[in-house]
Amino acid sequence: MSKKNFSNQPPEKTLGSWWGKRVLITAGPTREYLDPVRYLSNASSGMMGFALAKAARDLGARVTLVSGPARISAPWGVTIVPVISAEHMSRTVRRYFSKTDVVIGAAAVSDWKFAKPSQKKLKKTGHPIQITLIPNPDILMELGKKRSHQVLVGFALETHRWLTHAKRKLRQKNLDLIVANSPDSVGMNKTRIAILDRKGGKKIYPPLVKLKAAEIILKSTEPFLATNAK
Ligand code: C5P
Repeated sequence: MSKKNFSNQPPEKTLGSWWGKRVLITAGPTREYLDPVRYLSNASSGMMGFALAKAARDLGARVTLVSGPARISAPWGVTIVPVISAEHMSRTVRRYFSKTDVVIGAAAVSDWKFAKPSQKKLKKTGHPIQITLIPNPDILMELGKKRSHQVLVGFALETHRWLTHAKRKLRQKNLDLIVANSPDSVGMNKTRIAILDRKGGKKIYPPLVKLKAAEIILKSTEPFLATNAK
């Protein structure tokens, strides 16, 4: 007698490698406050991270989107955890990490923060002021040091020699895959990407809408899901 499927889930053979995987995506810019009203940030819209969340959700993954301030709404079915600063993003990602299968770092994390942010609004004096910036934690690099079964995917925004720089970051941050892109992708609907992986794979793509790019990035990540599976 043949077995019938009485659950709500699709039959086993249609479940792909992403089904049920816990995917954590960082997205958007971060903000580093100098005082209660002024901050250092960047032009990232969060679109690429949100597109990745949507594409992973469509493949059956359980997606958590840790997002800096972005003006787009979270895709249905995705858990969104809003954060502000790089420290805040780092703390949040660390909290989820042990229970995560794949981390995709699509956030444009601020490299610096203010050494001495002020609790009160700074008064203008008419004179120059000197402000010290100190480095923020590199979230992906930290994850790269303590990873176990997790697959790690990063981005590298480069103005020149993008493949060389991306390759170096892939190694330095101990990632499985890195997506190189150019600054003209920031805030735009389309992106031009190249994907490099730790096995030496390299592919350059023509400009793509971000959802299509997201699908390609997930497809390229799949072989690592199989290798690192618990
Ligand atoms: O070194 P760079 O900033 O170019 O690296 C970009 C990659 O590292 C992206 O995946 C970004 O999300 C991640 N990153 C991070 N924490 C930082 C800086 C970058 O996770 N402080």
